[in-house]
Amino acid sequence: MIQYIVRGGKPLCGEVTIAGAKNAALGILAAAVMTDEEVTVENIPDVSDINSLLEAIRGIGAKVDRIDKNTVKICGATINSTTVNYDYITKIRASYYLIGALLGKYGAASVAMPGGCKIGSRPIDQHIKGFKKLGAKVSESDMITATASELKGNHIFLDIVSVGATINIMLAAVLANGLTIIENVAKEPHIVDVANFLNSMGANIKGAGTDVIRIMGVEKLHGSTYSCIPDQIEAGTFMCLAVATKGDITVKNIIPKHMEAISAKLVEIGAEVYEEDDSIRVISKGRPIGSTVKTRVYPGFPTDMQPQIAVVLSMADGNSIINESIWEARFKYVAELRKMGAVITVEGNTAFIEGRDLLTPAAMAVPDLRAGAALTIAALAAEGISTLTDIEYIERGYEDFDGKLRALGASIKKVDSEDDKEITKFKMQVV
Ligand code: UD1
Repeated sequence: MIQYIVRGGKPLCGEVTIAGAKNAALGILAAAVMTDEEVTVENIPDVSDINSLLEAIRGIGAKVDRIDKNTVKICGATINSTTVNYDYITKIRASYYLIGALLGKYGAASVAMPGGCKIGSRPIDQHIKGFKKLGAKVSESDMITATASELKGNHIFLDIVSVGATINIMLAAVLANGLTIIENVAKEPHIVDVANFLNSMGANIKGAGTDVIRIMGVEKLHGSTYSCIPDQIEAGTFMCLAVATKGDITVKNIIPKHMEAISAKLVEIGAEVYEEDDSIRVISKGRPIGSTVKTRVYPGFPTDMQPQIAVVLSMADGNSIINESIWEARFKYVAELRKMGAVITVEGNTAFIEGRDLLTPAAMAVPDLRAGAALTIAALAAEGISTLTDIEYIERGYEDFDGKLRALGASIKKVDSEDDKEITKFKMQVV
């Protein structure tokens, strides 16, 4: 088992370049199979969720060429199956985008039930409702199977604002016959990115980024070259890292507009935040001030930043309240953070935090992707040596996380948990 071993307690400073957005790239790569022409996707992050999806796309017969770690060429002309059933695909959430993509292109898709981080019950009823409204028959067992002799545009009103359902229905509708109107859709930057990519392939999608998306079905899609937007959550994670370690970090290759909710919260709790065209510098001004955070759909404070801001607030001067409105099981990291001396109680979907001046090092297990990044931040803030196991979760969504941290001055190493020699060597290092 691989773990992080961390020597925390020093301010992290410098520049970090943010990778492409994982959640945009997952939708875009699934969409890429919808044409028989070649598609080039640039700025994809080199993370395990993306690699699993690419394996699945290769598995159904598409040609997948990884040009370099952040660029892939995909050609869907050679697809010979609409069944996606591999062990690894059930581990990632976004496997379900292949239902929308294959149903839209071939009128048939059978995909193993999606997995993903255990942060809530994660139903997909809204995706299925959308497919049915477009005329598909859908059955659910270990596999979700959708078929349609012809998909026809329709008026779809989502009961819940869902990122996944918005993208999936959009995928199925781009090649449907006639006009589809989807109301009460998600507005996250990655929705807009997937829509822009589909439009670059010849789709006719209007309104992405607003509450209503209109899609006029087209006969077919063509090849394209497209670059994914930067990852809002990776950027936000490094911004929180600057505050937690009392450092000074410039996050580069970002879209500051996407960061507004996070920047505003960091300013509110006392950090200095300076925006440039495609970068943001966050300078800690000492201990942050306690605050209230409510996670909301975009443009609200993102749920995927909730554990990271909780770590920052656990070291704040004063008390804080965090209300989680999207995922009911997103406080699993609290038990780990308490090992570091954080004082947090959770009641339902609300966490009450009593700020502490210092966290103390601990041995922790990572419960999910974003919690893993947050606990790493906590370990880097606490003076002394901490360990984190189950870091595979972090590698699902952060490209070269430990490498980027080291470049900011962090003392962090990925080691085999059994490798006592390496662990002792790290602990003995003179700093
Ligand atoms: C995506 C992100 C995830 C992020 C989440 C919310 C990916 C791969 N993952 O997840 O990191 O935390 O958006 O920003 O992009 N719901 C239903 N029925 C459905 C679909 C969703 O009830 O059919 C509920 C969910 O239980 C949840 C809420 O809607 O409470 C939002 O879920 P959704 O936006 O769909 O999240 P994902 O797309 O799974």
